[in-house]
Amino acid sequence: MHRDCKCILFTEEDIRRRVAELGEEITRDYSSGQLFAIGILKGSVLFFADLVRAIQVPVLMDFMGVSSYQNRSETSGEVRILKDLDFSVEGRDVLIVEDIVDSGYTLRYLCDTLERRGAKSVKVVTFLDKASARRAEVEIAYRGFEVPNAFIVGYGLDYAEQYRNLPYIGILREELYQHA
Ligand code: IMP
Ligand code: MG
Repeated sequence: MHRDCKCILFTEEDIRRRVAELGEEITRDYSSGQLFAIGILKGSVLFFADLVRAIQVPVLMDFMGVSSYQNRSETSGEVRILKDLDFSVEGRDVLIVEDIVDSGYTLRYLCDTLERRGAKSVKVVTFLDKASARRAEVEIAYRGFEVPNAFIVGYGLDYAEQYRNLPYIGILREELYQHA
C-alpha cells in the first residue's frame, strides 16, 4: 500500500469483480441498441476503460472535461465545461460514466445540460458513491460501491493530480490535506 494511504477500501480483485457485474447489468438494460458512453475526465478514465470492455452492446465513446476541485479537497458547487463532446447527444441513449459522486453538483449540471441538448435518455453509472455528502439531487442508475465521506484516491481518483495510477482504491491520510 502507498504510504500516503490510510487503508485500502477496494482491491484490484474487488474492482475487477464489481466492474464485470456493472457491465452485465448495463448490457442487459441496453440490449436493444447502441449506447453513448460519456467519460468525465480525468477521474473516470480507468473505470471507463474497464467498463466499456465489460459491455456487450455497441458503444460510442466520448469524453467531457469539467472543473471541479481545482487542487482543493472541498467542492465549490460551480461547474464549468473545460472540454466539450465531439459528437452530438441528440436522439442518443447517453450513459454518463463517473468515478465518484460527492456533492452531486457536477452530475446535476451534466444531466441537465445533456437533457437540454436533446439526448433521448440520460443515465448515470458511477463507480463510487459518497452518498452521505450529497447536496444536489441526482439519480444514479448504476453504482459500484458506496464509500464513506473521506478523501478517496486511486483507480483514477486523485488528490492534487497524484495517486490516479494506484491500481486499488484507498483512503488518503487526513494529515496530507488538513491544514494544507
Ligand atoms: P461533486 O460535484 O461534488 O459530486 O464532485 C464530483 C467530482 O469531484 C468527482 O467526479 C471527482 O472528480 C471529485 N471528487 C469528489 N470526491 C472525491 C474524492 O474523495 N477523491 C477524489 N476526487 C473526488
Ligand atoms: Mg470526476
